[in-house]
Amino acid sequence: MTRYFLTTAIDYSNGEPHIGHAYEKIGADAIARYRRMLGDDVHFLIGMDEHGQKVEQTAAQLGVEPQALVDTLAEKFAAMWQRLGISNDQFIRTTDAMHKAGVQALIERIFERNPDDFYEKAYEGWYCVGCESFKQDAEIIDGKCVLHPTRTLEWVEERNWFFRLSKYASFLKALLTDRVEFLQPASRRNEMLALIERGLEDVSASRSRLQWGIPFPRPLSTGERQTTYVWFDALPNYLTATGFPGDGGRAKWPAQLHVVGKDITRFHSIIWPAMLKAAELPLPERVWGHGFVLLGGERFSKSAGVRLDLDEAIAKYGADAFRYFLLREIPFDADGSFSWEQFDARYNSDLANSWGNLTSRVIAMVEKYRDGVVPSGAREEVDRSAAEDIEAYHAAMNGSRGYLLHEGLQRAMSMVTRGNEYVQTMQPWSIAKRDDEDGRRALDHVLSSLVRQLARQAVVLAPFMPEKAQEAWAQIGGPGNVGDQRFGDLDSLDATGWAVKKGASLFPKA
Ligand code: MSP
Repeated sequence: MTRYFLTTAIDYSNGEPHIGHAYEKIGADAIARYRRMLGDDVHFLIGMDEHGQKVEQTAAQLGVEPQALVDTLAEKFAAMWQRLGISNDQFIRTTDAMHKAGVQALIERIFERNPDDFYEKAYEGWYCVGCESFKQDAEIIDGKCVLHPTRTLEWVEERNWFFRLSKYASFLKALLTDRVEFLQPASRRNEMLALIERGLEDVSASRSRLQWGIPFPRPLSTGERQTTYVWFDALPNYLTATGFPGDGGRAKWPAQLHVVGKDITRFHSIIWPAMLKAAELPLPERVWGHGFVLLGGERFSKSAGVRLDLDEAIAKYGADAFRYFLLREIPFDADGSFSWEQFDARYNSDLANSWGNLTSRVIAMVEKYRDGVVPSGAREEVDRSAAEDIEAYHAAMNGSRGYLLHEGLQRAMSMVTRGNEYVQTMQPWSIAKRDDEDGRRALDHVLSSLVRQLARQAVVLAPFMPEKAQEAWAQIGGPGNVGDQRFGDLDSLDATGWAVKKGASLFPKA
C-alpha cells in the first residue's frame, strides 16, 4: 500500500476557529478521503500551534494562564473539526511533551551536523506579532504590516540565535526549479523564486523576550537562556508527530503533502526545507499553497471588522452543504469569496434540486416499478460518459496537475447533471406504461443505469460530502460504507439486486 502522510497548518491558539481555518481543513480532508478511496495508507495530521508571543499576549489580555487558554482552544478546535467531519488520524499540540523534546532534538541535530548554521547576532527590526515574524521594509505600509494592518508593529532589539538561511539560497532555488511539483500552484512557486532572487536573510531561531515557548537547547555565549522562535517550534510539528527523534521519524516521515495557506507558504517552502537540509533529514514531497476565503473581496478578521460566523454558516444547511459550498465556490489554487446569496443559490440548485432530487426520484421509481429491487441492465452510453468524467475527476484530484478540488467537484456534479438529463430523455414513467416484454426490459435497463449512476456519484462525492454520500449510498442499498469503496472498482460497479430504501430527503428545500 502506498503511504500517504498529509498535513495542514497547525492553527494559532489565540482565538476561535474561523472559516479560513475550516476551508483548509476541509480541503485537506477531501484529499485525505480521496487518497483512502484510492487505496492509500493515509495518515492525516492536523493540530494546534500553541506557543509564541501572539498566544502569550492573548492570554495576558484575557487574564488567564497561557496553558489554560490553549487547553480550552484545543478542545474547541477539535470539536469543530469533528462537527465538520474532518477525518484526521492525529491531532498534535505543540505543548505536548513529545513535541517539545522533538524540537530540541532537531535543533541539536542541526548543531551537530552543521555547527555553523546557528550563530549569535544582535538584531533590530520591526516585529509583527500577527505574523510572528520580523518584517522587511517592503512588507510595511504606513507603519503597519501589510498582512495585519490593525496591529502595531513592535521595534525589537535583541541578541539571538540565528539560523543561516542565506546559505541555502542556491539549494532552495534548485529545489523549486528542478522539482516543479515540490511547491504548487505555480503562482506560489514564482513568488518564492522571486523572493530567493531578492536575497534570503538569515532568520532568528530564538527570542529573548518570549516566555511562552520551548527552551532553546543551547544558551548564548553570555549564558542567557532563550526561548525557541515560534516558527522553529511550529514547523517541526510535522516531524515530531511521527515520533522523531524516536526512530528518526522513519516510520512516517517524510510527508507526502503539506497543505498550507499562501500567507505561510514561505515558511513551508523556504525555511522548513532549509531546516531539514541542515539537519540532514529528508524533505517533504510537496507543499500546496491554497488561497484565501474572502468576504466581499476582503480578508475577514475580527480586528478588521469583516465578520463571517463559522457556526452560523454550518448551522444553515449542515456540515456537508458547507463543505460543498466552500470547495465548489472557492478555487483551491486561488482566492475566492464567500457570499450568503451564492450559498443559498448553490444549496438549492446543486444540492436540493440536482443531486438530492435525482436520488429521491430514482429511488421512488425503483420502489414503484420494481418493488424496491434494482433490476439488471447492460452498460451503455451514459456509463462511458461517466468514465470520462471520472478520469477528469482524478486528474484534478490526484496531484498530477495540483489539487484542483473545485474542478474535481465540478466533474462529479456534472455526472449528476447528466443523470437528471437522462431521466428527462428516457422518461421512465412513459416506458412504465408499456405493458409488453420489450417495455419491461427497457425500463429495467433505464432503472439499472440510473442506480449505477447514483452509486458512482455517491462514491466520487464522498470525499467532499462524506455524510450525505453515505446517506445516498445507504438509500440505494449499496453494501457497507461508501468511504470503503475503491475508485478502482467503479468501472465494474453493478447494482443489480440492491434493495433501495427511501430515507429522509438528502437536502430539504430551504
Ligand atoms: N500557526 C501558523 C501555522 C503554523 S504551521 C507550522 C498559522 N496559523 S493561523 O491560525 O494563522 O492559520 C492557519 C492556517 O489557516 C494557515 O494555513 C492560513 O493560511 C489559513 N488561513 C487563515 N485565514 C485564512 C483565510 N481567510 N482563508 C483561507 N485560509 C486562511 O499561520
